[in-house]
Amino acid sequence: MKNLGILLSGRGSNFEAIAKNVLAGKIPARIAAVISNREEARGLALAREMGFETRYVPSQGKNRETYDQEIVALLKAFRVDLVCLAGFMRILSPAFIREFPRRILNIHPALLPSFAGLDAQKRALEYGVKFSGCTVHIVDEGVDTGPIVCQAVVPVKDDDSEETLAARILAEEHRIYSEAICLMLEDRVGIVGRRALRKK
Ligand code: GAR
Repeated sequence: MKNLGILLSGRGSNFEAIAKNVLAGKIPARIAAVISNREEARGLALAREMGFETRYVPSQGKNRETYDQEIVALLKAFRVDLVCLAGFMRILSPAFIREFPRRILNIHPALLPSFAGLDAQKRALEYGVKFSGCTVHIVDEGVDTGPIVCQAVVPVKDDDSEETLAARILAEEHRIYSEAICLMLEDRVGIVGRRALRKK
């Protein structure tokens, strides 16, 4: 059985969706650890309540390399095979990424490469796109730039607020993150150039 390591900073609804699928046997893995840079993250409390191993790793007074070394050491101690960023609001250092080559996934609330970075739903709404969505990608050394494993499209309605659009996108996030995790765990993703292609 492969081990997942979840990194989160906030609400943790993506973690919750993944955890439910793990517990229901729909994802062939176990959750080895849930780690947060925020002590007050709802996702961390939820993970604790669900009985998972949790760790709070504060970042104050540490540079990115030192911080990332701590996280990497924890992930290795928990024998994590696949790292899932689930609303983890930190950029990973190249050294971190090199420790888990092609074994870190991220979920982003837009159709990348559109609206990379923060406040993606707000910027999509303000820009006036008619469709947005979400993307699960393999993390590389850029910000939201790695090979795309799964995407889902969501319509933008004329009367959407940032909240209603974000909620519609989130429902799709919860679906495609588990799908992408399964593809990765089953080694059904091959990388050709910057494309993540499904192996036959
Ligand atoms: C999700 O919408 C996720 O796509 C986004 O943060 C939210 C976390 O929600 N991530 C990013 O914007 C990363 N750049 P959650 O804590 O309920 O899973």
